[in-house]
Amino acid sequence: MEKLRGLKCRECGRGYPSAPVHVCEFCFGPLEVDYHYEALKGVVTRQSIAAGPPSMWRYKDLLPVDGDVAVGHHVGFTPLIRARNLADELGCREIWIKNDSVCHPTWSFKDRVVSVAVTKAREFGFDTVACASTGNLANSVAAHAAEAQMKSYIFIPADLEQGKILATLVYNPTLVAVEGTYDEVNRLCSEIADKYRWAFVNVNFRPYYSEGSKSYGFEIIEQLGWRAPDHIVVPCAGGSLITKIWKAIKELKMLGLVEGPVRTHMHAAQAEGCGPIVTMIKNDTDVLKPVRPKTIAKSLAIGNPADGFYAYRTTKDSGGFGAHATDEEIIEGMLLLARTEGIFTETAGGVTVAATNAHRDRRHPARSVDRRLHHRQRAQDARRALRPSGDAREDPPDAVGVRSGPDRSEVAGGAAPPLI
Ligand SMILES: Cc1ncc(COP(=O)(O)O)c(C=O)c1O
Ligand SMILES: [Zn+2]
Repeated sequence: MEKLRGLKCRECGRGYPSAPVHVCEFCFGPLEVDYHYEALKGVVTRQSIAAGPPSMWRYKDLLPVDGDVAVGHHVGFTPLIRARNLADELGCREIWIKNDSVCHPTWSFKDRVVSVAVTKAREFGFDTVACASTGNLANSVAAHAAEAQMKSYIFIPADLEQGKILATLVYNPTLVAVEGTYDEVNRLCSEIADKYRWAFVNVNFRPYYSEGSKSYGFEIIEQLGWRAPDHIVVPCAGGSLITKIWKAIKELKMLGLVEGPVRTHMHAAQAEGCGPIVTMIKNDTDVLKPVRPKTIAKSLAIGNPADGFYAYRTTKDSGGFGAHATDEEIIEGMLLLARTEGIFTETAGGVTVAATNAHRDRRHPARSVDRRLHHRQRAQDARRALRPSGDAREDPPDAVGVRSGPDRSEVAGGAAPPLI
């Protein structure tokens, strides 16, 4: 079955053959992978998917890999957990957590995108992979490069959490810490990508890499019994994950695999100290205003997101919204998730829980005040217990044990609250 049509410009629609390129030569629009959907209809079925492995590769027919999977055979198919206690606490009828904090092998959804990118890099004959990262991608690229026995060059802002740096260095990549923001690191990487024949997973391999995030959306639908939830709250950085979950839902619908109508609203979650996508949504403008990040949610600290425009469009097209979380609310969100569901995540998880809460308040303002006061109090108590003296806001990660405990990545990735 010939499934891949090649690449297609997201702006002018011009087609390109499959190659490690990411920008349209005519309009400078970003390229994305295009499929022969007609050929896939009736071939990709619920049965064919269920017969696949218990990993993201059960959706291989909908991913841009031609030959055998090179690395990351066990990535994905993470638990979708009915979060009854959290739902009670937030006053929601039903909340589900798509828990990619237990994604194999590096505990974030980045393993999904990286396993596709590294497999593709092998297909195109590259021997070196690289990335610009806010932390989780660094871990994942280093791990998958080790598995593929390829060289890796990883560029990060120098002020990343120590836990993230250690969890990258252990795989023995060449790690370059740059004194600057992620956006500055990323600009540097674009220049390097022009110079060396390296597979930069989120630069020249971005069209392939980003498709890996679709598996997150496919899994949500399959695990809900082939139904689409009413709402999905997604933590956003570069803005790719949210657009690809939406693309995944539309693809499954197009292939006739979704039971009933799709009424999913896609909501963006970002930190207040770095929330340019949510600001676009709130101001209802498709013009992105880059920001200089200042937040404890370092994995989401991208001030000039490559897919910001498309993330905005995704929320707009699906009737979704966006919410900013302050550092305080991020910590409260992490503590709330831990206390109610026994799930300890990094800060991106706290952002998602806080945004879910804010989204619910928006829909039911009358019920929100008491509840907010209630878990403010619970969070204050928990913080006091964790750190008897000192101001948690001065050093919030310590206050919740992120630095000293296991550095768990991403919760809720898309904490999916289907019925709020
Ligand atoms: C834990 C976590 N969640 C969500 C995201 C957002 O992904 P995207 O950059 O595709 O918006 C990131 C990005 O680094 C992340 O590390
Ligand atoms: Zn174009």
